[in-house]
Amino acid sequence: MRRKLAAGNWKMNGTSSALGELTSLANTYPAPSVEVLICPPATLLHRAAETVHSTHIEVGGQDCHANGSGAHTGDISAEMLVDAGATAVILGHSERREDHDEQNEDVRAKARAAMDAGLKAIICVGESLEQREAANTLDIIGGQMSGSIPELSTGENLIVAYEPIWAIGTGKVPTLDEIGEVHDFIRARLERRFGEGVGRSVRLLYGGSVKPGNAAEIFAVSNVDGALVGGASLKAQDFAGIIDALQNA
Ligand code: PGA
Repeated sequence: MRRKLAAGNWKMNGTSSALGELTSLANTYPAPSVEVLICPPATLLHRAAETVHSTHIEVGGQDCHANGSGAHTGDISAEMLVDAGATAVILGHSERREDHDEQNEDVRAKARAAMDAGLKAIICVGESLEQREAANTLDIIGGQMSGSIPELSTGENLIVAYEPIWAIGTGKVPTLDEIGEVHDFIRARLERRFGEGVGRSVRLLYGGSVKPGNAAEIFAVSNVDGALVGGASLKAQDFAGIIDALQNA
């Protein structure tokens, strides 16, 4: 059985006052039946970890460097994330791929470093609107998967997030059939590459305009094991609506 996961990505949002949202979440869910993860900006990570310490809520990073240490101004290593209290890290988000020109091989190297450090790597894949309209979605996802997912992946250290770029922060969501088609494809690809046992145990998240109002129907789609949520993870009340939908799925 794959444990369901509600993951929040705060992106470049939140200063000290946002920690109160984490306290509210922890108070609302003393013992959630699903895994709950919040990835705040790096400046809040350590305090966020302290805030949820001894609760069932986990915190994660939004990126890491492929190297363990060294002359990389402004970057953060996987070991540093672990040291700050993270249990997971988001890698290859389309905003990183676009803003920082991250290529599949960069994401793969980062994922290797994250897994070596004991973090769960949430590797993001997703097509642009042009690619979808040209019926290239599965080719793009397949290429991103083979390029970005490292060999040492297991059901414990790998999570794949399908995030159509055109659905992120736009309020647009693919049809349930479209989500199902991509998630089934990702599952089949994982099984083919890593064998059935590992392939079936990797969790697959959908991301892109998930809200309390559409979460339940998305969670009913086959091979959707949870969500990676941007905007609706910033407020505890909104994110709670998504956690509730996942708990009831
Ligand atoms: P969104 O972002 O929920 O605000 O669309 C999702 C994401 O980028 O992970």
